[in-house]
Amino acid sequence: MTAVDGVQRTLEVALGERSYPILIGTGLVGRPDMLTPYLAGQQVMVVTNETIAPLYLERLCDSLPDDLEVRTLVLPDGEQYKTIEQVERIWSALLEAGFNRRCTLIALGGGVIGDMVGYAAAAYQRGVAFIQVPTTLLSQVDSSVGGKTGVNHPLGKNMIGAFWQPKAVLVDIDTLTTLPARELSAGLAEVIKYGFIRDETFLAWLEANMTALRRVEPEVIAEAIARSCLIKADIVTEDETEQGVRALLNLGHTFGHAIEAHQGYGNWLHGEAVGAGMAMAATLSHELGWISAADRERSLAVIKSADLPVHAPAGMSSDDFLARMRLDKKNIDTRLRLVLLEALGSACVSDAVPPDQLKTLLDQYPRR
Ligand code: NAD
Ligand code: GLY
Repeated sequence: MTAVDGVQRTLEVALGERSYPILIGTGLVGRPDMLTPYLAGQQVMVVTNETIAPLYLERLCDSLPDDLEVRTLVLPDGEQYKTIEQVERIWSALLEAGFNRRCTLIALGGGVIGDMVGYAAAAYQRGVAFIQVPTTLLSQVDSSVGGKTGVNHPLGKNMIGAFWQPKAVLVDIDTLTTLPARELSAGLAEVIKYGFIRDETFLAWLEANMTALRRVEPEVIAEAIARSCLIKADIVTEDETEQGVRALLNLGHTFGHAIEAHQGYGNWLHGEAVGAGMAMAATLSHELGWISAADRERSLAVIKSADLPVHAPAGMSSDDFLARMRLDKKNIDTRLRLVLLEALGSACVSDAVPPDQLKTLLDQYPRR
């Protein structure tokens, strides 16, 4: 791809005519030239939440050319607001503004805003353009890339949605300077996930650089984001709609989604639930004889070093887990499918875990 001035790294999600760039750098929000090449027409709606609006909304809007019709919409903050009602607010705002099929939505925020705005764009007048401007580490390495959009349902996480690719992803790592440490750790869960599923060398690099990552040292964090996005872009290019390999991106998520839904959305952060879920998947992989005790210990140690939980929540029974896990989108017919580790750096999807063994793991797994 052509180099863009000031952008440290440019990657591409190669999906034919739906291909798009991931631009990673500093000082990108507020640069007049960063968003305009990806706008479909003159009508633009920037959607964010009440935490991010005071930090970045004005800067982003000021960077858009004066001759555009720019509207903004500020939603409440929180996973508990990742609902169809909030998406309906976006549709209503678009209709009230008289926005047509050539409008562009800009998602300014973390994964909650990105997923909802993407879904709003997927369905508005049967599909309009949108751009992701992710502002959390989690959204910069995962949710803004790959076109999974949607909302939660009271009965299950991300159960309503669509595949709808953005026109561009603009990752400004400066936005991480205002991100709370707990949210940064949640993002590190997804970064670690890429090491576990695809790249043992990256995992070792993360172990060596965890302190610098947690301090948000710009060069190190930019490298982690780029390596994560590269792995995700490769997988999405291979399997856009999750017919096969893309399911590996769900390591830890079957356990994790069950935890999030059971605890009440927003109580455990998505990344925290994924951290615990990956620890559970590593433990099950060891109990099945697939990875050694040393590799299981190494897995838990790297998760803990990112300040993420490796325990399950107190008060969540095995039956609570199983009831939620049966609703997982990876399942085929009545068969539960889990992403497990064959080795560190290599994952697979298995529907052959003996139910008794899963039940024993869930019964005996440490709670806190
Ligand atoms: P989030 O969007 O709730 O953001 C976390 C918190 O950080 C929020 O309070 C937000 O307002 C705040 N925040 C965001 N940017 C900030 C900044 N720069 N400075 C200060 N505060 C900031 O959570 P998240 O972790 O970004 O995303 C989690 C969501 O992403 C979940 O709903 C999950 O299901 C989804 N997800 C989707 C995909 C996908 O492929 N679509 C992948 C992974 C996760
Ligand atoms: N985060 C899972 C996926 O994008 O497929």
